[in-house]
Amino acid sequence: MNNKIPTLQILKYMGNKRALLPWLITNIEPYLKEGKSIVDLFSGTASVGYALKPKYKIIANDIQEYSSIISEALLKFNYSIKDNDFDNNLNENYLSHLTLLEDVFCLYLKKENKLLKADPDLYFNFSNTAPLFGRTVTNKKLSQFYHLDFLNRKRQNPKSLPYILFSLYYSHTFYSLRQCIEIDSLRYAIDQIKSKVKRSVYLSCLLFAINKSVSSTGHFAEHLNANSVSGKSRIMQYRKVSVYDNFLKKLNDFRGMCINNAYKNEVYNLDYKELIFKLKSENRLDEVGLFYIDPPYTSTQYSRFYHIPETLVKYDYPIITKHRLREGLSQGRYREERYQSTFSQLRKAKDSFHEMFRVLSENTNATLALSYSDNSIIKPIDDLIEIAKQYYTVSIVKNGYSHSAQGSRFSSNGKGAKPIHEHIIICRN
Ligand SMILES: C[S@@+](CC[C@H](N)C(=O)[O-])C[C@H]1O[C@@H](n2cnc3c(N)ncnc32)[C@H](O)[C@@H]1O
Repeated sequence: MNNKIPTLQILKYMGNKRALLPWLITNIEPYLKEGKSIVDLFSGTASVGYALKPKYKIIANDIQEYSSIISEALLKFNYSIKDNDFDNNLNENYLSHLTLLEDVFCLYLKKENKLLKADPDLYFNFSNTAPLFGRTVTNKKLSQFYHLDFLNRKRQNPKSLPYILFSLYYSHTFYSLRQCIEIDSLRYAIDQIKSKVKRSVYLSCLLFAINKSVSSTGHFAEHLNANSVSGKSRIMQYRKVSVYDNFLKKLNDFRGMCINNAYKNEVYNLDYKELIFKLKSENRLDEVGLFYIDPPYTSTQYSRFYHIPETLVKYDYPIITKHRLREGLSQGRYREERYQSTFSQLRKAKDSFHEMFRVLSENTNATLALSYSDNSIIKPIDDLIEIAKQYYTVSIVKNGYSHSAQGSRFSSNGKGAKPIHEHIIICRN
């Protein structure tokens, strides 16, 4: 592996291995075999697959659909983006749709634009009462869009015009109205692109842009609340961030990334076991040289922290969960039927690893490289190592590192991040 490891960040992602790549790749490279595939079984933001793409065939898999979009863009797109790509492919549809939504929300957009430059109290008086799914909407022109009948029609036919999901669901909470109409309009323009891989590149740019502009601490579990002077000013700053500019910024990053590989990389959106059984049924498990395994390691469910990216790619006008204690929608506006990973459930995590080692050891002779840290749901990590030893011959590589934890692992006492030891558990038959 040469010294320059390719990276392209799309989401600020809990547990992503970007900062760990030099250490990780140095330590798994001895087990990689040229001509054999690497399966990234829990691929997240595809950082590991992208880093290995120059030399190996990658099969990426994750249960979240946004992850498969990112993997598709990073692993399957082998061309470069030209200077005038946006103008040639998206601009016309983007602008025509933007005009459509500007007309629908014209009054509120004007008010918002003015008040975002004004006194915070005036802005929040407006923002806390403006039309939003879950509030009573009295404005005659707009109320039709918030009726259940309209939403049910959209759920049947989500790609009908106008694309309006973000404007209805997330304005004045996770985003400003202006940001939402930009998101909906870019989403519309992207859907008019014929090539699936190119759509994934554009959707990845939009994922980046919605992450940059969200009124939160970086993830999507909950939006910030305007309950202090500093909180209000922070939210107002976020709400002025341009989705469009950030989209173009990431598209520009794709211009320089053109990494070609000689292989046909593959991307799946399955439970990890389904992928193993699929490869088995196709007699393809012998193609695999290494399974890289980076499962969830905390009790945080990815489907909660990243429900808005999931909704952006599905664009399905989901049913939103109710608040557990009071009337109305949940604060985070979560999708119903989110996937709950047992790797994140304290009572089930150990059994999940038993199951995973069993399924893999019974079906393939390939080596496993499992990433886990000593500040994870299974503590001490020796317990996990003992489980692995019941199925494999095990060796351990350990590192001191604090990784992206979206706030949860960083101490709040001002002493900075607590050192976390990352481990690679190498399992051989
Ligand atoms: C620690 S993250 C992977 C991070 C990734 N290596 C990166 O660098 O971005 C764990 C991933 O496991 C996925 N996941 C959780 N349960 C899963 C399952 N049963 N099958 C497949 N993927 C799953 C989550 O959606 C999440 O993206």
